[in-house]
Amino acid sequence: MTRKDLPKLTAEEAVQAIQHQNTVAFSGFTPAGTPKAVPRALAARAVAEHSAGREFKINVITGASTGPSVDGALAKAHAIGFRTPYQSDPDLRKSINEGETRFFDMHLSRLPQDVRYGFLGPVQCAIIEACDVTSYGEIVLTSSVGAAPTFCNKAEKIIVELNRYHPQFLRGAHDIYEPFDPPLRSDIPVFEPSDRIGKPTITVDPSKILGVVENNQPDETGGFRDLDETTMRIGQHVADFLAAEIRRGLIPPSFLPIQSGVGETANAVLMAMGQHKDIPPFQMWTEVIQDAVIALMQQEKVTFASGCSLTVPPTTLQGIYKDWEFYRTRLTLRPQEITNNPEIVRRLGVISVNTAIEVDLSGNVNSTHILGRNIMNGIGGSADFARNAFLSMFICPSTTKGGKISTIVPLVSHLDSSEHSVSVIVTDQGVADLRGKSPCERARTMIRNCAHPDYRAQLEDYLAMSGRTHTPQSLTAAFAMHAKFAADGDMRGVQWRQR
Ligand code: COA
Repeated sequence: MTRKDLPKLTAEEAVQAIQHQNTVAFSGFTPAGTPKAVPRALAARAVAEHSAGREFKINVITGASTGPSVDGALAKAHAIGFRTPYQSDPDLRKSINEGETRFFDMHLSRLPQDVRYGFLGPVQCAIIEACDVTSYGEIVLTSSVGAAPTFCNKAEKIIVELNRYHPQFLRGAHDIYEPFDPPLRSDIPVFEPSDRIGKPTITVDPSKILGVVENNQPDETGGFRDLDETTMRIGQHVADFLAAEIRRGLIPPSFLPIQSGVGETANAVLMAMGQHKDIPPFQMWTEVIQDAVIALMQQEKVTFASGCSLTVPPTTLQGIYKDWEFYRTRLTLRPQEITNNPEIVRRLGVISVNTAIEVDLSGNVNSTHILGRNIMNGIGGSADFARNAFLSMFICPSTTKGGKISTIVPLVSHLDSSEHSVSVIVTDQGVADLRGKSPCERARTMIRNCAHPDYRAQLEDYLAMSGRTHTPQSLTAAFAMHAKFAADGDMRGVQWRQR
């Protein structure tokens, strides 16, 4: 093992190493574990370059979404030319939808291997948040793993942002494992959510580390609003459905590991599952470990959580660090290539619960686009899990925008998870179990169980108009509800004409 004294740099000094059109990879997954000081300095550098009349745009690769210091600050500085694989920042979203930033939306499990395969070009610099770094090139990550091991492995140089906010005792919280690439790849030996297969640190050639920038700042993670009635109803329907599946003998009595998506509704579903008397304590095999998981762990309802990031507000994170002896044996953070790995999701029999923007009468899911044209966030890990889950569920409210939009539509305006990857849809109205059903049966179940009453007759008319066929669809009228919303701001009251 070689040893190298690592130079200390200011953030401003460090970003001098980054040039226009460089590809820069940031550690982190969600705001958890994402660098803050160096990207802010990079945004300031971009502003200065632009003021001096010089071009300065970089290609940004991350594990998933980031905090405002990366996507927000760099988008505001007009410094992102290309972005992948996921984002959720309002300024960056605007820049993408206005055509300023080229965005490549991709399955998160594929990101690390696509970087290794060279599909996304060379990575000039990786900026990695760490709670510890040694002169031998050992990097201990903070509240997430994401794609940091691959970024460190592939990048030409590395800037370490040493964030003292996160304690050094996190060494051991991460399970760092990178599979070999084909034709040398073997099985990934995870047989239980708690299995550890890798190392506690990322190890790099220390000469690749350009320097260390000190910081002391919490993750830029927000909290959740209080649950509303719609969200609580969705949560209750999911919990009741899963409990009934145990009673029917279709889910083992010991239950199966849960993956749950991001956001308020996903949090509400977990809380409802935790409170359901017929659902036994369970394990999580998931991507993002949110607040509800921690709350349920304290109640011993979640016994173990394997995830890619600990995306909780700073107060919750402080509580976890304070009580580390309790959490240390109940949590593992892994690379997204492992948490979202199709092989492992299928083997463990994961029950996946993800959120849709809209769902059509066949059960096709749009998770990413508003009215087919504007991106919201990206597909994230939803389809990594949905395609391979034991039971693939999608949830959403039956309407949005005060009832003017039905999330249940004749045909999705953009497709992310196809009907072949979707088993069950849940809205505040109820549960559509689509397993083993023909397209006509699926459509009737979706309308009866999931559509809002304001839209049921309209959707039934659409079915009737589509006539007798295998998949009830009208090529000319399938987007009439979207078109009506675009024209007058309300999907209600579409009059279907005969085909
Ligand atoms: N048509 C138009 N607008 C819609 C809509 C539809 N069918 N459905 C939702 N919207 C709007 C909402 O009105 C809301 O608008 P606002 O921001 O102006 O209030 C916005 O989209 C977000 O909707 P909301 O219900 O608050 O979303 P959410 O926080 O529950 O997130 C997703 C839902 C689908 C956007 C989010 O889960 C996501 O990005 N998923 C894809 C990635 C993923 O699943 N990751 C986890 C995998 S592990």
